Amino acid sequence: MTYRELIEKAYEAMEFAYTPYSHFKVGAALLTESGKVYTGCNIEIASFGATNCAERTALFKAVSEGEHHFKAIAVVSSSRDFTYPCGICRQAIVEFGKDIDIIVAKEYDYEVYKIDDLLPKSFTSIDIKY
Ligand code: THU
Repeated sequence: MTYRELIEKAYEAMEFAYTPYSHFKVGAALLTESGKVYTGCNIEIASFGATNCAERTALFKAVSEGEHHFKAIAVVSSSRDFTYPCGICRQAIVEFGKDIDIIVAKEYDYEVYKIDDLLPKSFTSIDIKY
């Protein structure tokens, strides 16, 4: 699976975005270490705080099927600009490691980051002292 192919999967998932309020569509495709892909879209709820981002939809689908080891996540949106993961999604991504490639894409271009670029000095499990 190339990163271009992963981006294409994210665009396919974006088609399912449920966005009656913002009309802003986001798609994500998460590649596991074993080569499986889990996709996600944003899902908006009338009580806005219950809305779920595309990245977390993909991540939660994967984790709910036993996956914990990820290689990359591609994120695309209906915007002409890059869409970077929101703060909550950054926190959810770092939960599963700092080596995941975060691919932020638009139609003919993409950028690749590590979570330390997007969420420096993060709070993770090693900071929880019992
Ligand atoms: N959204 C995502 O799906 N991912 C992000 O990282 C940024 C924001 C969604 C949530 C909401 O449905 C819409 O974009 C506008 O905030």
